[in-house]
Amino acid sequence: MANKFEEKDFSNEGLNLGVWKKIAGLFKPFYKKLAVLIVLQIVIAFSDVLMPYLNKISIDNFASGNGSDEELMTFIIIYLLIIVLIGIINFIYFRVAGKVEMGFAYYLREKCFKRLQSLSFSYYDVTPTGWLLARLTSDIARLAEVLAWSMVDLAWGIPLMIFSGIIMFSTNAVLALLILIVVPLLAYVSYIMQKLSLKAYRGVRKANSKITNSFSEGINGARTTKTLVLEEYNYADFKEDTKEMYNVSVKAAKIGGTFRPLVNFISSLTLALIIWIGGGLANSGIIGFGTLMMFIQYAQQFYEPIRSISMIMTDFQIAQASGERIIYLLESEPSINDTPEVIAKYGTIFEPKTQNYEAIKGDISFKNVTFEYIKGETILKDFSLDIKSGQTIALVGETGSGKSTIVNLICRFYEPCSGELLIDGIDYRKRSIGWLHSKLGYVLQAPHLFSGTIMDNVRLGRLDASDEEVYEACKLVNAHDFIMKFEDGYNTDVGEGGSRLSTGQKQLISFARAVLANPSIFVLDEATSSIDTETERIIQFAIENIMKDKTSLVVAHRLSTIVNADRILVIQKGQIVEDGTHETLIALKGYYYRLYTNQFNEEQNSKLMGGYDYGL
Ligand SMILES: Nc1ncnc2c1ncn2[C@@H]1O[C@H](COP(=O)(O)OP(=O)(O)OP(=O)(O)O)[C@@H](O)[C@H]1O
Ligand SMILES: [Mg+2]
Repeated sequence: MANKFEEKDFSNEGLNLGVWKKIAGLFKPFYKKLAVLIVLQIVIAFSDVLMPYLNKISIDNFASGNGSDEELMTFIIIYLLIIVLIGIINFIYFRVAGKVEMGFAYYLREKCFKRLQSLSFSYYDVTPTGWLLARLTSDIARLAEVLAWSMVDLAWGIPLMIFSGIIMFSTNAVLALLILIVVPLLAYVSYIMQKLSLKAYRGVRKANSKITNSFSEGINGARTTKTLVLEEYNYADFKEDTKEMYNVSVKAAKIGGTFRPLVNFISSLTLALIIWIGGGLANSGIIGFGTLMMFIQYAQQFYEPIRSISMIMTDFQIAQASGERIIYLLESEPSINDTPEVIAKYGTIFEPKTQNYEAIKGDISFKNVTFEYIKGETILKDFSLDIKSGQTIALVGETGSGKSTIVNLICRFYEPCSGELLIDGIDYRKRSIGWLHSKLGYVLQAPHLFSGTIMDNVRLGRLDASDEEVYEACKLVNAHDFIMKFEDGYNTDVGEGGSRLSTGQKQLISFARAVLANPSIFVLDEATSSIDTETERIIQFAIENIMKDKTSLVVAHRLSTIVNADRILVIQKGQIVEDGTHETLIALKGYYYRLYTNQFNEEQNSKLMGGYDYGL
């Protein structure tokens, strides 16, 4: 699907200190644990250096029979103690690092989720779900992994090289130099290899991102795909993406496959050199065999940090890219925001100061409102409208004429680009979004239910409602009967997004939800379009009852819902072209008159033909 969303390019090569500062800020709650990890790594590095040295002592002193039995016993005890200690330290290390990894990922997910909850409708208009899912899953996992494991590896590698360097030089400078001399070459080769594999990795990530998006579209659009028989077409697309993924992955593997043996070859060569020269020295008695043994072990150990450091550098770059994306998400500002003054008085969505919420009377006024979803495409221009509290306003008009836009603006899902929207005479931006939404009941054409029971879903309208109040609300909108027909009644699981219920049933439940909330402003956007005419007739009375002393906006195609409205507005291209009661508009013989007579005739015909409902 064509999408206006363009991902910012995060793959800048160098180190970006600004990003790391922000990542460090996010990581703050874990600083103490990080310090523990670093200390443990230094201890582990020290013990890794100590072991070959102890081996040297054992060979040089005891294998040749020089030491006394007593000395041997002491040595064995110390040796065993050190081994046990290393075991314990490693155990603690793995536990703490695992905790940091999981804890940080959890912490970030919570933060991102909270941010996603507060972002406005317009953000979701342009951001693909796949992109968001990738941020919440793989990017967070990767960043947490690198911070918990790779970064602390540095705290092991550097002390290890320093400690073993000191011991080597103080034991035998020639052999020490021999080991050291290869370091620049190895570092260079590893650096090149990491650079190439990083490049390949970026390709893999890009391909992966595409595949995630295909998956998410494939799953979300599964039903549409089936009805349009697009399987073949989608599959061809997907196959191309996976093929690209395959190619770049193979390329990445090839790079690893070429360089790793090269690095191993160089270090093995040095090892051979050490054995050759060191062997000569040992033979002529200049050094002991234990010392030779120690150097062989050090040679193997010494290059490990070089390999891991270049790997860590790659990890850092990967983490940087992931971190940058996460920060980008966390810093996405809702385009609809309360000002600091408003927040000071009314609190935030997450911490509202409900004691400061004023009651809503329900007067609504549009004052010269201009609105566009996309720059340059004006939907409403200089739009003005006054609605008195307690009135029921019906909006009719062709598809795309702007009815939903008008109610979306009232709900503050979007804000006017210019002009003002007053509620009870005050610009609604002077009070909080939470305040408005706490007094607003909104029922949509495609209502969303959350996984859980019917009871849970209705109760979302007012979390402290009792079971009895939920039953009352459901009875009022005529949902009680169909709910009781389910085996589990109110405890029936609605499935993900309410998928186990029909659209009409979902609408009735979201109706009950709105009724329970007892709002001052009621917005029904095509809310009864999927309810059959019989049920609609039954709940019509309930709707009118609920709306009696509330300001209500009803967008409807079925005229039976709107003939009783106090005022009917006909909207065309974002403008009010007719405005009046049912009788005055009929008398006007304009758009509304034609709409009504057409539909009336259709209804009469359908009755004659056996009650077939056109659903209009
Ligand atoms: N999220 C959006 N992003 C961009 N343009 C949009 C968006 N939503 C609506 N529009 C455009 O705004 C115009 C008015 O749409 P609106 O949804 O208000 O119409 P409507 O009268 O409710 O139509 P319907 O009867 O089909 O529900 C249309 O031209 C539509 O293409
Ligand atoms: Mg609409």
